[in-house]
Amino acid sequence: MIIAIDGPAAAGKGTLGRALAARFELAYLDTGRLYRATGLAVLNSGGDPTDPKAAEAAARALDPATLGDPDLRREAAGVAASQVAAQPAVRAALLDFQRHFAHHPPDGAKGAVLDGRDIGTVVCPDAPIKLFVTASVEARARRRFKELLDSGQEVVESTILADLKARDARDAERDTAPMKPAEDALVIDTTELGADEVLARVVSHVLAARPPA
Ligand code: DC
Repeated sequence: MIIAIDGPAAAGKGTLGRALAARFELAYLDTGRLYRATGLAVLNSGGDPTDPKAAEAAARALDPATLGDPDLRREAAGVAASQVAAQPAVRAALLDFQRHFAHHPPDGAKGAVLDGRDIGTVVCPDAPIKLFVTASVEARARRRFKELLDSGQEVVESTILADLKARDARDAERDTAPMKPAEDALVIDTTELGADEVLARVVSHVLAARPPA
């Protein structure tokens, strides 16, 4: 089983993805980490993430062992991620890794949950379960602000709101694999929903679509 989750930053995709993976014994991949690791690698080598040559080289050289780096959560990595993600050569370089994970999940898992922006539309268009998780940009900024504060980073809420708006626009308006719900995706607005309610709704949806054997 493959579950594809797409949607804008800080809408609750990661929380839902990890919970679904635990519930259905699936492996979980946060594909934003691939773009963040690529963006951060360019920054760390003193390059510019909007430079296509530097970005493509970093994507091709990506070491999966770096995907757990805590620096990937930093806002600077998120901004660089969104810049490298707009480039077709970067997306092409990261596609095989994502498809391989989906179809050959590690550790004998029964399937995989992938979250990102183009999982249901480009990476796994045949996934039997597709979700598009969204929330108002103000609610997402509040959540991201709290998350960053809790992790000890100094942040300003208005800066986060502006960054999210810029990132939404870049992710949704790019020519290659723009962020959008797949035609057959279940769209869930989490502005007024807690994580438990979101999970309960999605578990019912999955069980209705794929009753246990
Ligand atoms: O989900 P995130 O905030 O970690 O994603 C970081 C950036 O990477 C985001 O701005 C868009 C990009 N991204 C993408 O284009 N496609 C994906 N499948 C995942 C992330």
